[in-house]
Amino acid sequence: MKVIIVKDYQTASEVAATEMLAVVKNNPKAVLGLATGSTPVGMYNLMVKDHEMNGTDYSTIETYNLDEYLNLPMNHLDQSYRHFMDVNLFNHLNINKENTHVPEGFGDANEACVAYDTKLAEIGGVDIQVLGIGSNGHIAFNEPGVPFELGTHVVTLDEQTRQDNARFFDSIDEVPTHAITMGIKSIKSAKKIILIATGSNKADAVYGMIEGEVTVDLPASALQDHENVVVILDEAAASKLTK
Ligand code: GLP
Repeated sequence: MKVIIVKDYQTASEVAATEMLAVVKNNPKAVLGLATGSTPVGMYNLMVKDHEMNGTDYSTIETYNLDEYLNLPMNHLDQSYRHFMDVNLFNHLNINKENTHVPEGFGDANEACVAYDTKLAEIGGVDIQVLGIGSNGHIAFNEPGVPFELGTHVVTLDEQTRQDNARFFDSIDEVPTHAITMGIKSIKSAKKIILIATGSNKADAVYGMIEGEVTVDLPASALQDHENVVVILDEAAASKLTK
């Protein structure tokens, strides 16, 4: 793992955007693996700014998102990850929405998993995958204990994860209990992975991911043996690293 420590969130977003734009500019048919959560928003803003200023072309770029809530309450459809991606990125680029893939959060979930894995297998792994990390070390919605060998699957969300995400809902009771997520195996099929973590609430998870043992108890530790991972941290998220 290559670890880059910068002073703050804005600089971390700039480093991440530079990585993404290098891929997009180098290959008009690149396939991007995208993530939700508050962490990548700064990077998405910079990609939008670059598109506006430099006209970077997304017309033949394809994207795959990591995960989606299952059966969101109808009054909270604005919390769907599809909506998040439209508002924060896709609506501001010249991307063909048909080329943007997010797992389907309604209907037959098992069928949606198979459909997603079929598409991912067809493309043979994304060119670059952006990741955040949960405070319990989850990546996408791969919660502690989930086997690393799984492809796209349905998960029961951890209590910790539901509490972390409750700020986006009126109350914890409205936070979905289940989600659909790409598995660790699918995530690791990416040719390159960039993981962004900022803030002191991520410091324990970051320590476990980089310096801890590889264990299903800390899903992000599975990235240790991937040959092309760049971890971008601010000083607070890096504060527990010892090496
Ligand atoms: C959610 C997402 C993850 C994300 C995590 C951290 O659980 N499924 O992909 O990494 O939240 O979110 P944040 O970036 O808001 O801290």
